[in-house]
Amino acid sequence: SAVAVILIGGYSKGTRFRPLSMDLPKPFFPVGGKPMIHHQLSALASLGTVKEVFLLGFYEEQTLKALVEKAAVQFEMKVTYLKEPAELGTAGGLVHFSDTLFKSNPKSLILLHGDIACSFPLKNLVEYHSNNNPKGITIMGTHVLKSDAHRFGCIVTEKQYASGKVLHYAEKPVSDVSNLINAGVYVIDPQLVKRFPDFKEYHKQISNVAIMDRPSYEISNDENRIRFERDVLSSLALLGAGDLWVYVLESESDFWRQCKSAASAIQCSQDYYSYYKQQKPELLATSAKNKCEIVGEVIIDPSAEVDPTARVGPGVYIAAGAKIGPGARVSHSIVLENVEVKSNAFIKYAIIGWNSSIGSWSRVEGMPNFTHRQPRDNEDKVTIFGSGVRTASEVYVRNSIVLPHKDLHENVKNRILL
Ligand code: GDD
Ligand code: GTP
Repeated sequence: SAVAVILIGGYSKGTRFRPLSMDLPKPFFPVGGKPMIHHQLSALASLGTVKEVFLLGFYEEQTLKALVEKAAVQFEMKVTYLKEPAELGTAGGLVHFSDTLFKSNPKSLILLHGDIACSFPLKNLVEYHSNNNPKGITIMGTHVLKSDAHRFGCIVTEKQYASGKVLHYAEKPVSDVSNLINAGVYVIDPQLVKRFPDFKEYHKQISNVAIMDRPSYEISNDENRIRFERDVLSSLALLGAGDLWVYVLESESDFWRQCKSAASAIQCSQDYYSYYKQQKPELLATSAKNKCEIVGEVIIDPSAEVDPTARVGPGVYIAAGAKIGPGARVSHSIVLENVEVKSNAFIKYAIIGWNSSIGSWSRVEGMPNFTHRQPRDNEDKVTIFGSGVRTASEVYVRNSIVLPHKDLHENVKNRILL
């Protein structure tokens, strides 16, 4: 049996998700038509060996309680939220809560980041781990463009870019190390967790000498704070004991993308829609089923009302209670609960917050530069409306972020409206 932990962080982070994270913690924001961490949970559930999943973060318990219960209800696994007393880093919480996590004496720990979108081939990963490295840590790795690699943990293996023993690990390095990167999913021997504080100590001693990481801007004197990447993974690689392996995502049907910003939520959603098209086409809308014009991959909640003359898609999620009026056009967007899109409005590359209203003949759009694989905050401009934003009719909004409850009567371009 195995236990799983999903790292979900907390409010001090997730700044790139504003203003949406003001109303809903980022791990629960809909991506591919489901709360972000639903996809992690679903992959864990389908393994069949995971009985319990812990969400580790530093959100207030009250904020998450109902959301966690709702997200967990359809899975036959116990899902428990554990709040860190302070931000303990990506590995500190594992040490702090180890008695709780490992009470059932599990054979392995599956650790996943909450802020990634992926096909999560966990069966293959776990199998690879048990066959090659059962007493160590196995990282799921993926390839990214060379120009994106420095924003991730970079991995060098025996066979350079293929699965195998890790020779070198550098977290967000300054120079080019490798375009094989850490995808934020791991299988870990639970016995190793008690040694994490020693790894941290080791890392401190050698870090002046051997590490090519960017200078750690956030070394804190909190001794409970442990960074999984720098303190544990780098140390394991440097110790050269052969306990660190990487399993590389390489199947045609696999995908991976980081989901940090609101713009990336649109790209990550598209990845999931395309994946559904192959795996679960019944989740997607069709013109026949939904009685409106559907283009490409779209998810429409059964309680949403889309006028027969509206055209929706490609790459759209329409949430519960939303209304799309006659002649409206929506593509590459996320339309949240109870939004009203009035007649002939046009929405493209936008996220429309809960209960917002878009006036007739209005145009709300972003112009992202989605040519590269991994989203970049500073380049990928999508328009984002917080909750309860209303536009009058015939208003044009482009590349802008609008905070909750604003009324827009005039055109807006390249602005952040507070
Ligand atoms: N519980 C908890 N406590 N979770 C945390 C904490 C913490 O103190 N700090 C971060 N997290 C969570 C975040 O919510 C996110 O899900 C995950 O841990 C990693 O977030 P970051 O620490 O912001 O790192 P990153 O995303 O920039 O880079 C990491 O992920 C990349 C893949 O997406 C690194 O592991 C990279 O090496 C990796 O390539
Ligand atoms: P999230 O959106 O939840 O990730 O929160 P955040 O905006 O606080 O992001 P994060 O802490 O991941 O990174 C903040 C900034 O610091 C980003 O621009 C990163 O590229 C940069 N950064 C990340 N790691 C390092 C590092 O090791 N050294 C330096 N100098 N900068 C880093």
